[in-house]
Amino acid sequence: MEENFDTFNDFVMTYDLNEEMITYKFNHTYRTVHQAEEIARSLSLTDEDKELATIIALLHDIARFRQWTDYKTFNDSQSFDHGDEGVKILFEEGEIEKYNIDKKYYKIIKTAIRLHNKLEINEEELDAKELLHTKIIRDADKLDIIYSFSTQRLLEIMSDDSEISKKVIDSFKNHKQVNKLDVNNINDKIILIFALTYDLNFKYSLKRIYEEEYFNKMIESYHNIEVFKPYVDEIHEFIKGEIEDVRQEIQS
Ligand SMILES: [Fe+2]
Repeated sequence: MEENFDTFNDFVMTYDLNEEMITYKFNHTYRTVHQAEEIARSLSLTDEDKELATIIALLHDIARFRQWTDYKTFNDSQSFDHGDEGVKILFEEGEIEKYNIDKKYYKIIKTAIRLHNKLEINEEELDAKELLHTKIIRDADKLDIIYSFSTQRLLEIMSDDSEISKKVIDSFKNHKQVNKLDVNNINDKIILIFALTYDLNFKYSLKRIYEEEYFNKMIESYHNIEVFKPYVDEIHEFIKGEIEDVRQEIQS
C-alpha cells in the first residue's frame, strides 16, 4: 500500500501546491483514507476489503486536482462531474495502471468512485461488494466534509439573515439530503451540510458526528445561532434514535 501512496503523492506533485485548494484536497484525501479505514475496522472487514476501502478513498477525488486547475471551482455543475471524471482519468486515461492493484478489483473501484458524489445511489444496480465500498467512501467523504466545514478556516461559512428556502426545510424535515439545486443562499448551504448526516450508512459515522459535535462547532460563532440550534438538536436526536449505544450513554 505504501507504494500506492507514493504514486498518488507523485500525481498530486504535478499540480500547483501553492494553491491552497490543491493542498486542501490533498489533505482531504488522506483524512478520508483514515475515515474509510476506521469504518472498515468498525465493520470488522477482511484485510482485503480494508485495503480496497483505502485505495478507493485514496483515488476518490483524483479529478479534483484537474477541476481546480482548469476551472478554479469545486462546483461540478460549473465544470464536470468529478466522480465521472475520476473514472475517466483512472480507467480511460490509464492512471490506474500506475498503482499496484489487482485488476479483479477495478469494477468495484470504478463503481465506488463514480457514485461517491451522487445525491442518491440505486442500490439494486450494485452487487454486494460494490454496494459496501460505495457506502464506505460516501460516508468517509461526508465525514471529512462535515469536519472540514466545522473546523477548517479555509471552508468556514458564516450565516447571514437570509430566509432558509422551503424546499431545503422540507428535505431536512423528511430526513433527506438537500439537493444542491434547491440551495439559494448561504443559510440553505448550512442546512445542506447538516442534512448530509441523513445519508450516512454506518453507525461509526453517526456516532462520530454526535461525539465530535461538529455542527455545534460550526454554528457557535453565528450571530443568529438560535436559527440553527434547533436543526442541530434535531440531528442529534435523530442519531440517538439510530444508535443504541449512544442512547445508553446518554441515559446512564
Ligand atoms: Fe469527492
